[in-house]
Amino acid sequence: MLKLKGSIKISGDKSISHRALIFAALSTGNTKISNLLESNDVMSTLEILRNLGIKINKEGNDWIVFGNGTSGFIEPKKPLDCGNSGTTARLMIGAVASNPIKCTFVGDKSLSKRSMSRVTNYLEEIGSQINITRNDYLPLMIEGNDELLPLKHDVLKPSAQIKSALILAALNISGKSEITEKVQTRDHTERMMKYLKIKFKSSKLKNGGKKIELNGPYEIKSKNINIASDPSSAAFFIVAALILPGSKIELKNISLNPTRIAFIQILKKMGGKIRIKRTRNLSGEVVGNVYAQYSILKGISIKSSLAPMLIDEYPIIAIAATQAKGKTTMRGLGELRHKESDRIKSIVLNLKKLGFDIKSKDENIFIKYKKVFISNKKEIKTYGDHRIAMSFSILKLLYDKKIKIDDPSCISISYPKFNRHLKKLLVNS
Ligand code: S3P
Repeated sequence: MLKLKGSIKISGDKSISHRALIFAALSTGNTKISNLLESNDVMSTLEILRNLGIKINKEGNDWIVFGNGTSGFIEPKKPLDCGNSGTTARLMIGAVASNPIKCTFVGDKSLSKRSMSRVTNYLEEIGSQINITRNDYLPLMIEGNDELLPLKHDVLKPSAQIKSALILAALNISGKSEITEKVQTRDHTERMMKYLKIKFKSSKLKNGGKKIELNGPYEIKSKNINIASDPSSAAFFIVAALILPGSKIELKNISLNPTRIAFIQILKKMGGKIRIKRTRNLSGEVVGNVYAQYSILKGISIKSSLAPMLIDEYPIIAIAATQAKGKTTMRGLGELRHKESDRIKSIVLNLKKLGFDIKSKDENIFIKYKKVFISNKKEIKTYGDHRIAMSFSILKLLYDKKIKIDDPSCISISYPKFNRHLKKLLVNS
């Protein structure tokens, strides 16, 4: 029987890594970045910045970024390749918009099916010239402009990528920009701005949203950044520990940003024995250690209002739900259809194929407990989606060699050390 035991430090957070590179490039002076996540997605951002004239070197385990200021990008000689990374595409489109350069953005097959108008519509309104495939998709051509009008936009979709793209554009726009989000989403961009002493105003709105006011253009002084470890990556091992009898683990240096750890509250509500211990502040983020051990889980109902806070963890929560007595309901998952794969479809089809009792209706998923024995080997279709590959790699631990993942290589999109870390924690007894 397999179980997880011991302690590891998870790799750097993906969202913070993208932002650390971008803000370092927009600063004046050199930034040392420690614990950068060296995954395909983050490397796409890094290479794009190099193509925009930013010198970035590796020194030991750290990265040194030689910033060029908020108006310092030079016109790239080739298309900017975002690979599979939605965060790279959305944030970098925002970041170049207020620089007077022409850029072409391209991406892989999956990314070329994901909406870009959710960002470009706002930028076109303030004066960006954008040519976009079928009104929504990459490849797109943007003609940046250093005379964009200040932004005054309400972001209606719950998306930290849209909010962050607009903030990055506003950093080099003269005058007062106002960005409001209807629903609060992850706030790493705002935390990094505070850490870098960028002056802006953030106020909570009565409806639960938030208003951000900036007064550009800014000069940002570089400051070294140490990146907290990724809670969304930790979630895979936390669920593994909860469902494998005899497990007990410690995960160190995890970002405990409240906009990222709602999944811990959800798993605790399901009966998960999880403890968190805050340890310190790290470059504007709260970090700490997370402890998890085998637990008897029960199904719960997860409200749709929590969706923006759980967006990357639904696939692994669904795996936990298959082992939870009773029924689990996950509502309001519309945005899951627009991720690296249509995650409602990838979760439901794969769990159904293995024999679990799972249904979806509109934007909701329902999982009823059922003891499942897998007799013949079944193949999981990841659709090239890293979080689907890792979630089913965790379920596979309960079914030994009966589950095969069709394309485990996509895991390197967000967590190249996933298998190495899993091996380190796995004990066979
Ligand atoms: C991210 C925001 C989320 C998340 C993605 C990373 C970010 O997307 O799914 O993995 O770094 O801003 P949306 O906020 O657009 O839903």
